[in-house]
Amino acid sequence: MEFKGYDTNFNITDKVALVTGGASGIGKAITELYLEKGAKVAILDLKEDVMDTAKQIDSENAVGFQCDVTDNESMDKAIQGAKENFGKIDILVNCAGIALLDDAENISDGYWQKTLDINLTGTFKMSQKVGNVLIKQGHGGKIINLASQAAVIALDNHVAYGASKAGVLGMTKVLAYEWAQFGIKVNAISPTVILTELGKKAWAGEKGEKAKKEIPLGRFGYPEEVAAIALFLASDASNLITGENIVIDGGNTIK
Ligand SMILES: NC(=O)c1ccc[n+]([C@@H]2O[C@H](COP(=O)([O-])OP(=O)(O)OC[C@H]3O[C@@H](n4cnc5c(N)ncnc54)[C@H](O)[C@@H]3O)[C@@H](O)[C@H]2O)c1
Repeated sequence: MEFKGYDTNFNITDKVALVTGGASGIGKAITELYLEKGAKVAILDLKEDVMDTAKQIDSENAVGFQCDVTDNESMDKAIQGAKENFGKIDILVNCAGIALLDDAENISDGYWQKTLDINLTGTFKMSQKVGNVLIKQGHGGKIINLASQAAVIALDNHVAYGASKAGVLGMTKVLAYEWAQFGIKVNAISPTVILTELGKKAWAGEKGEKAKKEIPLGRFGYPEEVAAIALFLASDASNLITGENIVIDGGNTIK
């Protein structure tokens, strides 16, 4: 294949992206950056006000769908709606996620199951459904999965969360391998603590201060910093990267 080059400003003009969990935190930052770089974005989120959120961000190029990534019908409707609205799909970002933390000897069945259902199965089902659309369209595509540093290192109280995110990494590699023949690139991003609603809640107080000191660069991250990687992975500049996990952690996992 001949090298076709890429936009050195990382524009993704007229690409259509679906961002799950895009109504807040990292997903919202990704949505905003994708829009700034010329994409159209469908936000799929559990939040009831997701339609208004999309309108507030960009009434012309963003649209919101209330969607639960644990519910097949809800996902099918939203994917269909996004396709009808924008005519195609090029990019899927799986950002919907939860952190239900407890120690391994006491974590409830409910916490364990809900974490796996949303973080792992939800990510897979969205990838499977959108993957089928991309295969049928026949012009490749990009899938970007939010994993976590908890997928690669042990974190106290993170047994369900870590298992779900390690599962996301395993799944990312298999999808990348199976779908390379269709030109679909599948990658993961693994952040350290990012200062979003989820991040602030999970790392409040003393625990967070201690964790910060253990990070070589000495700080947590911002949603916009994760969005930068999601833009690179969505752009043509990363067309030879697939099945990879890009860690953004201030060096936390190199120790
Ligand atoms: N914030 C961090 O410290 C951090 C670190 C590493 C990885 N991550 C991962 O990044 C992703 C985004 O995290 P965030 O910090 O932006 O969280 P957040 O809580 O700010 O946003 C998550 C979004 O997902 C949505 N959501 C939850 N359950 C859903 C469901 N069943 N269906 C559809 N949408 C649903 C929520 O409504 C919310 O808008 C998650 O997958 C998280 O595990 C976050």
